[in-house]
Amino acid sequence: MFSKVQRQVYAFGNACQKLTGLQQNVRGVITQTAKSQTVFDKEAKYGAHNYHPLPVAINRGEGVFMWDVDGNRYYDFLSAYSAVNQGHSHPKIIKALTDQASTLALTSRAFYNDVLGEYEEYVTKLFGYDKVLPMNTGVEGGETANKLARKWAYNVKKVPKDQAKIVFAEGNFWGRTLAAISSSTDPSSYDGYGPYLPGYTIVPYNDLEALEKELQDPNCCAFMVEPIQGEAGVVVPQEGYLRKVRELCTKYNVLWIADEVQTGLCRTGKMLAVDHENVKPDILILGKALSGGIYPVSAVLADDEVMLTIKPGEHGSTYGGNPLGCRVAIAALQVLLDEKLADNAEKLGVILRNELSKLPKEKVKLVRGKGLLNAIVINDKYDAWDVCVKLRDNGLLAKPTHGDIIRFAPPLVISEQELNECISIIKSTIESL
Ligand SMILES: Cc1ncc(COP(=O)(O)O)c(C=O)c1O
Repeated sequence: MFSKVQRQVYAFGNACQKLTGLQQNVRGVITQTAKSQTVFDKEAKYGAHNYHPLPVAINRGEGVFMWDVDGNRYYDFLSAYSAVNQGHSHPKIIKALTDQASTLALTSRAFYNDVLGEYEEYVTKLFGYDKVLPMNTGVEGGETANKLARKWAYNVKKVPKDQAKIVFAEGNFWGRTLAAISSSTDPSSYDGYGPYLPGYTIVPYNDLEALEKELQDPNCCAFMVEPIQGEAGVVVPQEGYLRKVRELCTKYNVLWIADEVQTGLCRTGKMLAVDHENVKPDILILGKALSGGIYPVSAVLADDEVMLTIKPGEHGSTYGGNPLGCRVAIAALQVLLDEKLADNAEKLGVILRNELSKLPKEKVKLVRGKGLLNAIVINDKYDAWDVCVKLRDNGLLAKPTHGDIIRFAPPLVISEQELNECISIIKSTIESL
């Protein structure tokens, strides 16, 4: 957790804001001025319209809090889609970043650097794989896993040339590159961007019978799946699903790729979501919190039989494996372990779901999640966007995902007292609907 001194610094900052009148007004309600509007207008005028952000203009983040340009303070209940598990600007990760940045930031992989090997040893030993392939973003991790699976299909499984098939679950989300949208079942991702990549098949999520049928195809080389579907609205499969996926993939000699970009790194109450069922995927994709929200770092882990099918020159990235990213990742992982953030996520997740499930059923139909990756499904007579705007007005930032679903995923450094305050904000907001 953050040190006592750091907390005092935040408290002092808050006190100063109160004195300057920038903090929430006496009723605790957020007030935005023309400053915020200027930020919204500039983005709308000069930026592509490929996002629809909630109207709040952030300019600072520390721990579980973010502040906007008008000085209003908010609880972050999204954590940059689970990238900021360690809290905003975690001092130990910032130190790793600044120390390394002033020494050596990037060499490209044309040369060796003295941090990559250290990071590779650290991350492979931590997760129990022979090798790691470093990339930058989550979607690049997914792309890398797909390429590894195809290469393994031809070199090891002996699938005929260009016939390899990868199975995905309906509702999956792993980014919006052409490969990712080719396996997507969400029209807002794929519509208007064809032709799509061949060799992808879809089965319903959490349907083992449908999966088994596809895995029997001798050209099938992999099943890629999120242990909990994040973007689909925090969809948790039935207990035992992951164990059975492992069994089926082994039975049919198919690689199991777990996309833990969102669920991994303590978010669900264990280091990995697959740890809840004590199973090990053949290929593990990590991203987001691998850098604690400081710098884009992603990783694909696998054993030699899979990883060594890719030869020099066949895959890579200018920034992947750079010393800055590697130092940041080591620090980010160490913070997760040192601060026992999996345990905190597990404990506080139970409290959060327990309290949320007391909300009136005519307003909140369903509460679901694991650890601190949670969502509420609101009654469709209310608009999730409007609810998020009201939450913002009450000092908590969350974002709708898929219409009537609101995800609640605070930084894992949140304390029980802070969580209780957030629960009161959510309760009073929902009750005011
Ligand atoms: C499960 C999952 N995989 C992959 C990605 C893509 O990660 P990135 O946005 O870093 O490319 C995301 C992003 O939300 C995700 O949730």
